Amino acid sequence: MIDKYGRNINYLRISLTDRCNLRCIYCMPSDIEFRDEYINDTLSTGDYKFIIKSMANSGITKLRFTGGEPTLHPGLNDLIWFAKNECNINDIAITTNGLNLAKIASTLKANGLNKVNISIDSLKVYKYKSVTRGGDLTKVLNGINECLKEGIKVKINCVAIKGFNDDEILDFIELIRYNPIDVRFIELMPIGEGQKIYENGYINVHEMIESIDGLYPVPSEEDSPAKYYKFKGAKGRIGVITPLSCSFCKNCNRIRVTSNGKIKLCLHSKEEIDIRNYINKPLIFREVLKDIILGKPEKHNLVERQSSETTRKMYEIGG
Ligand code: GTP
Ligand code: 5AD
Ligand code: SF4
Repeated sequence: MIDKYGRNINYLRISLTDRCNLRCIYCMPSDIEFRDEYINDTLSTGDYKFIIKSMANSGITKLRFTGGEPTLHPGLNDLIWFAKNECNINDIAITTNGLNLAKIASTLKANGLNKVNISIDSLKVYKYKSVTRGGDLTKVLNGINECLKEGIKVKINCVAIKGFNDDEILDFIELIRYNPIDVRFIELMPIGEGQKIYENGYINVHEMIESIDGLYPVPSEEDSPAKYYKFKGAKGRIGVITPLSCSFCKNCNRIRVTSNGKIKLCLHSKEEIDIRNYINKPLIFREVLKDIILGKPEKHNLVERQSSETTRKMYEIGG
């Protein structure tokens, strides 16, 4: 699927559910209740299978399940197996808070999962608890160990928050010395709950990394928003994801599907296209999708607006 700027759209991100077992301060309002009547998840596991199959037929080769928290969705293993075995998608990942991973890493791997991106914004137990409003860091670290044992590729996502974790950068960097994992510092985006925190001051992570001695740039995956660095002897890499200081939109290869059946062509766009009427109609779906892709915007305008156009919160998109 080629969009009107010549970008090959081959990466599908599905936000399987709005539900989450944490409440990170830049993602979720503190008072949100996941009572059934508030949940927006309307697609079934069967609907997701149809979407994955159709999109694979149209050229999707990389699939990521996000949320909310994707491991809370009862169909996750089935969907991973289906994507791999019925749709020939070999690059299958999840973005997760990692709380459940220690228990389920081996099953996920057996069904075909290759990669996990895990959000950790502090390596201090009490600070982690405060930013996630109650999370248990030890469980997440056990989850990472389990993934490494299973041979699942692990990346840590750390959102840089001024005055909160900017004193922990060297501790995060130290993690890659003996572990074959990537640690990625992400610029906080002014989106949803993140807007208020952004207004307190954002950190340019590129500048932050450049000021650290001994790091040198190494090749990055072509389709990743991250730029990577290493230091001598390290087993893993340090990455920076810089949507604000250095946008990566010109290489964007993504399309997103939300748990209430909307396609989002850009994380930050207001426009959403309802695809529920085309589910289980393969020929129509294929034609509609071709048209939809042509509407993908060239780039976000976060810097000009100092806010995102979307009114969705991050837990309703999954990043
Ligand atoms: P890899 O494929 O492993 O590189 O993962 P990823 O970076 O595509 O996915 P992940 O879910 O780990 O997202 C990491 C960070 O990048 C999060 O803060 C996302 O919100 C952000 N991100 C992911 N995709 C986009 C995008 O298309 N645009 C912008 N602006 N940010 C994105
Ligand atoms: N800016 C940057 N990254 C964010 N994430 C959530 N909210 C924001 C934000 N406002 C990250 C999470 C997770 C990924 C899906 O997006 O930490 O790793
Ligand atoms: Fe849950 Fe992820 Fe949002 Fe944290 S950032 S509340 S883990 S969806």
